[in-house]
Parts: sequence; structure tokens; C-alpha cells
Amino acid sequence: NLDEKEMAKKQAGEASVRFIENGMTVGLGSGSTVYWMIRKLSDYIRDGMDVAAIPSSRQTEAWAREFGVPLTDFSKTQQLDLTIDGADEADREWNLTKGGGGALVREKIIASIAEQFVVIVDESKLVDQLGSFPLPVEILPFGWQATVERMRALGVEPVIRQTDGEIFVSDNGNYIVDCDAGLINHPDALHNRLKQLVGVVETGIFSGMTNKLIVGYPDSAAAFPF
Ligand code: A5P
Repeated sequence: NLDEKEMAKKQAGEASVRFIENGMTVGLGSGSTVYWMIRKLSDYIRDGMDVAAIPSSRQTEAWAREFGVPLTDFSKTQQLDLTIDGADEADREWNLTKGGGGALVREKIIASIAEQFVVIVDESKLVDQLGSFPLPVEILPFGWQATVERMRALGVEPVIRQTDGEIFVSDNGNYIVDCDAGLINHPDALHNRLKQLVGVVETGIFSGMTNKLIVGYPDSAAAFPF
């Protein structure tokens, strides 16, 4: 029994699979919307489709194994035909905030080497301007308190991510800082200012990367451009 939001995620995730063609190498993003995409992809694979996928997180890798999606890695290919991933927010220009699940660095790598980057979101993720969702930034553990202070000096309100009172550790062994930057007028500029700080690995702003946006509603999905 899925609630409306989960139904919308399922619609978006499943609709994205039709962009995967036989023989493609595919980047698999992370998160609960991607879960539905992987499940649907497994039907195509059972029917004989041949794909090889690179996962962006341990969780996604586990799902791919569970659903029989063949995996490959960077020793075999440094380019992908298609990457499909979710997002935490998408603005009118399809700039994204990502990293709510903490996988933003690997997600950005597989998005950046893909010929097509397809983003799957339920309608609640669409915003006029990014910024209601705090911006995740991955930083090195070494000297993290100093890095956080330098982020604060740039004018954002940084909070080190914790789960159950422990600092959250990414798949890369790094920390995540969630930054309240208010509404973000210039996503690219904010990304550049944060990224140049020593200790910052990557930010969750994905600007100018989205080729296709698939928006899920409880009983349908729409792909843009059509
Ligand atoms: C993971 O690091 C994020 O970038 C996810 O892509 C994002 O949080 C979307 O997740 P859901 O599909 O679960 O909302």
C-alpha cells in the first residue's frame, strides 16, 4: 500500500526505463525513486535486454544485485550512455540539489560521464528556486571543524550531518555538511565558492547537467522534453 508520494516516485522511476536501450552502459543513481527504476529495469533484463550498469552507492549496488542488473566498473568503461538519478530539488532551469542520501560525489561522477542525464522526481521536488532543501556538501574528515567555519564565512549556515548522535560517514569515508543558504539566486556561483575551499570534495548543486526531466504524479509521469 503506497502513499501518493511513493506512487509518484514509482511512476517517475518506471517511466525512465524506456530510455534505456539494448547494449547500453548505464549509471544508476541513488535513492527511493531510483529503486523503482532498478526494479522495472530487472523486468527488461529478464526479457533479454543486455545492459551493464555502474552504481553510485552501496545501497544501489545491493539493489542491482538483488534484481539481477549486471554491473560493470571504471576499469572497463569511462563513459556511460545514460545515467538515471533522483534529486532533492529541481528548479525551472533543471538545476538540481542532490545529496539528501549522501551519495552526491559518486552521483556527480556518473552524471558527468554520461551522454544523457535523466532525472526522475515526484512533483513535490519541483521548485522555482533551489534552497528550501539544505544544500549537502561533502567534505574531508580531516579538519572538518575548520572547513565548516570557512563555509560559514561564505554566508551559509552549515550543519554537520549526524545520525543517532554520530557523524554520518559517506560511502567515500567523508562527512556531509547540510548548508542553509536561503533561496539560491545563482546556483553555479554558490557551487564555485564552496568548491574552492580546501577540504571541500564536492557540492550537491548539479547545474546545467540535466538532459531530461521525468516528473511523476500518483497515476502518471511526464517526460520533458517530450
Ligand atoms: C542521494 O544522494 C540523493 O542525491 C538522491 O538522489 C536524492 O536524495 C533523491 O532521493 P529520493 O528519490 O529518495 O527522494
